[in-house]
Amino acid sequence: AHGADAMPQNLKTVADMPLLAVSALPAGRPHQPLSILKNTSVQPKQFTATLTAAAHDVELVAGQKTPMWLYNGQVPGPLIEAFEGDEVEIRFVNQLAQASTIHWHGLPVPPEQDGNPHDAVPAGGEHVYRFKLPKDSAGTYWYHPHPHGDTPEQVYRGLAGLFIVRSKNDPLKAFAEQHLVISDLKLDANAQIPDNTANDWMNGREGQFVLVNGQREPVITIAGRQRLRIWNACSARYLRLNMGQPFTLVGTDGGLIEKPQIMDEFLLVPGQRIEILVGNGKPASMTLKALIYNREKMGKVAPEVDRTLATLQFTAGLMPEIPQKLRKIADFGRATAMKKVEFSETMSMDNGVHTMAFLVNGKSFDMNRHDLISKVNEVEVWEIFNNSHMDHPFHIHGTQFIVIDSTFNKQRTNAPYRALHDTINLRPYETIRIKTVQQDIGLRMFHCHILEHEGQGMMAQLLVK
Ligand code: C2O
Ligand code: CU
Ligand code: CU
Repeated sequence: AHGADAMPQNLKTVADMPLLAVSALPAGRPHQPLSILKNTSVQPKQFTATLTAAAHDVELVAGQKTPMWLYNGQVPGPLIEAFEGDEVEIRFVNQLAQASTIHWHGLPVPPEQDGNPHDAVPAGGEHVYRFKLPKDSAGTYWYHPHPHGDTPEQVYRGLAGLFIVRSKNDPLKAFAEQHLVISDLKLDANAQIPDNTANDWMNGREGQFVLVNGQREPVITIAGRQRLRIWNACSARYLRLNMGQPFTLVGTDGGLIEKPQIMDEFLLVPGQRIEILVGNGKPASMTLKALIYNREKMGKVAPEVDRTLATLQFTAGLMPEIPQKLRKIADFGRATAMKKVEFSETMSMDNGVHTMAFLVNGKSFDMNRHDLISKVNEVEVWEIFNNSHMDHPFHIHGTQFIVIDSTFNKQRTNAPYRALHDTINLRPYETIRIKTVQQDIGLRMFHCHILEHEGQGMMAQLLVK
């Protein structure tokens, strides 16, 4: 029914073609720490740096050049480390051949600093993003482009970087820390990054490589008990993380949770982050696996495949005690407004061509339409319903939320523990209720974080006034 507005005009599609063998990328090298973006300011409480987006040829496969689009030439983009209370000033230099923006995923930055599609920086242009990291914002975030229509391509060609906000009173200070950015890469037989196929636009793009800090199956040495921050920076891949021994969840998207939670596995969906504590002091070798989650694809049930992400070498080392209280998360108080959001997709046949439309509240994204209106600082409950047979991760800009409950198969379940999220998965026909509040006036996006769905219109705008 929505065939006409289903696919933006600029969608490039290629036919399915042979891909490079997974073994073409070297595996088993030592885990590479992320490169850290240098703070060029000498002032206290000030973080100043430049991020340049540009095309680079990278030798991923020995003897072959893969053209990528990168921030400061790094795969993945550099890690920004700053403290609560810092003033951040990032000069963005756009050396791409197309417009772009930098969106600060999860951070409470003012809307005009948040890289909205409306604020595109033209090819060859520059822009300075300025924001202050508020109190209680310590957590694990990331940044990526958000231009209208071109976000999927800019991300799958390599543009994404990491952002950690630290607190001076971190209860987990005693733990050594490592960072694992999980990303997805598709390479054709000539080690080139191909455009999306029609199937990618439908199900979300998944490549043959699932990389950790840009490497295939690295070896990660964990001495004693350590803190890991893990990002799912894939365009569409769901990761059910498992490491053969229990681990302790201590943080989600928006920082520490209230009390540590012991888990055997965690489903990390595109856009989400977690912090965990791992290692029991006994030397062991384990694999970090991702059971590639069984998202129902166009009515076909794909088998859950087991993928090795990394080898974990546990060795003896410091075993700091795990505090039993991490933080108090306020519940925002009484909600006085309510919003309803519905994700859906439609399929239609136009002149023998299958067309999908990915919709929010029955409509495809329009930059010139305000879909919902909220009052600044008013606490709201959002009821998000996934009226479709596929999973979709819901994400909203500019704030964190807490999950109240979920209704799935007619059964209502309260959130098992209190945590701050900016991205949450919705299973087919699931309803999730969240509580949230927007603290700045302006325009905010909310969308599915499967980037191909977002790029095709599964995004809407909230006007905060
Ligand atoms: Cu990480 Cu609007 O997205
Ligand atoms: Cu975001
Ligand atoms: Cu989606």
